[in-house]
Amino acid sequence: MSDETEKTFTLTDDQTGASYKLPVLDGTTGPSVIDVRKLYAETDHFTFDPSFTSTGSCKSRLTFIDGEKGILMHRGYTIEELAEKSSFLEVAYLLLNGDLPTQKEFDEFDHNITYHTMVHEQLNYFYRGFRRDAHPMAIMCGVVGGLSAFYHDSLDIWDPQQREISAHRLIAKIPTLAAMTYKYSVGQPFMYPRNDLNFSENFLYMCFGMPSEPYKINPVLANAMDKILILHADHEQNASTSTVRMAGSSQANPFACISAGIASLWGPAHGGANQAVLEMLDQIGHKDNIPEFLERAKDKDDPFRLMGFGHRVYKNFDPRAGVLKKACDEVLEDLGVDDPRLELAMELERIALEDPYFVERKLFPNVDFYSGIILKAMGFPTSMFTVLFAVARTVGWVSQWKEMIEEPSLRIGRPRQLYTGPAQRPYVAINKRK
Ligand code: CMC
Repeated sequence: MSDETEKTFTLTDDQTGASYKLPVLDGTTGPSVIDVRKLYAETDHFTFDPSFTSTGSCKSRLTFIDGEKGILMHRGYTIEELAEKSSFLEVAYLLLNGDLPTQKEFDEFDHNITYHTMVHEQLNYFYRGFRRDAHPMAIMCGVVGGLSAFYHDSLDIWDPQQREISAHRLIAKIPTLAAMTYKYSVGQPFMYPRNDLNFSENFLYMCFGMPSEPYKINPVLANAMDKILILHADHEQNASTSTVRMAGSSQANPFACISAGIASLWGPAHGGANQAVLEMLDQIGHKDNIPEFLERAKDKDDPFRLMGFGHRVYKNFDPRAGVLKKACDEVLEDLGVDDPRLELAMELERIALEDPYFVERKLFPNVDFYSGIILKAMGFPTSMFTVLFAVARTVGWVSQWKEMIEEPSLRIGRPRQLYTGPAQRPYVAINKRK
């Protein structure tokens, strides 16, 4: 995207009649943006957009979303094509480096990631400091932030080679830390990574393998895990990615930035939704109770919302949900899972999709609706769901962080505000206050 532009947008101050020409910048595709960078200097006004619904916070070449048409592309490739033809590690390379790798490039990347999967042995002792019943995301915030205390040799963000090593370390080590988090919570021994397995197989092995017996890879589960990871790898400037970029804009080290992203992802309106879906299904309990809960979801005085439904950006369908629904069917069939919650989920989906409230507001199942169901069937406890999202999204966070640091015009992120507090007033001594 060039900042040289002929196009302008005129803004008129109705009080003074003054008008200002603002440059309009075009991306490769998608809506153009009105460049307001000089607005304050020229007009003495800020723009006001608290939830950033109309604000582009950066230029990016990674991911394109058209929410109306249900399109998600990474570096120009549709998510459907990537999910069908690619692998998570190849998508990671694509996001990080800009193009699909040649075989040689892929082999080298695969080798680098594989040989960075082990974590410093001292990190094992971090876990003992946590309660066994700690939420896995709480542990992840701590241990991922802690990585910056172990890998001092890759903390110089201005050195491209150190940036690359940190990126590889994060992509490789976060699955190991995630699996250790799970093992710790169930009181089982940590499993060291296995270099003969691919990324998703190794992750399943570290979670479900035991030192006492060989672990048999189930290809259906490994394939579904790889799809879940691909579908969650990046999603443009969502809350956690924006958090990573904001933290990184202060020149904080990448391990600290990704830990900030994990904290942001934790919330139920973002990555915590897949856990919330299962909890909601438990709360609904039975198919007969669906109408009652649908009414509650529509009631503005009731905080209950249908978790796994709706999306800030997708307003017709979530392209990731379609891919995952298919993987969900395959996993359930392969495992022969007979869980009444799944039947309940399918009935809820059917009824909600016919309900005028949800139809009119374009609320349909999002990716988390199905990922929660698959992960449950695989044997993950609900509290681990958001951790798995973090494993996948690490690739997007790291790629977005790298892109931002490589931007020559990088400046610290610093939004402004509309101040609504008291105007200036004199200090009153405590014995004179009423
Ligand atoms: N259940 C009931 N009503 C809803 C829901 C829902 N899940 N989502 C939105 N609405 C209503 C909302 O009350 C509003 O109604 P009205 O126009 O009458 O005031 C209308 O739909 C528009 O919603 P909104 O609050 O403006 O939408 P938003 O863009 O601010 O919120 C959302 C998006 C995802 C936070 C929200 O839909 C939600 O809370 N969904 C449930 C949580 C969830 O599944 N989150 C995962 C998102 S996908 C993963 C990711 O990409 O991070």
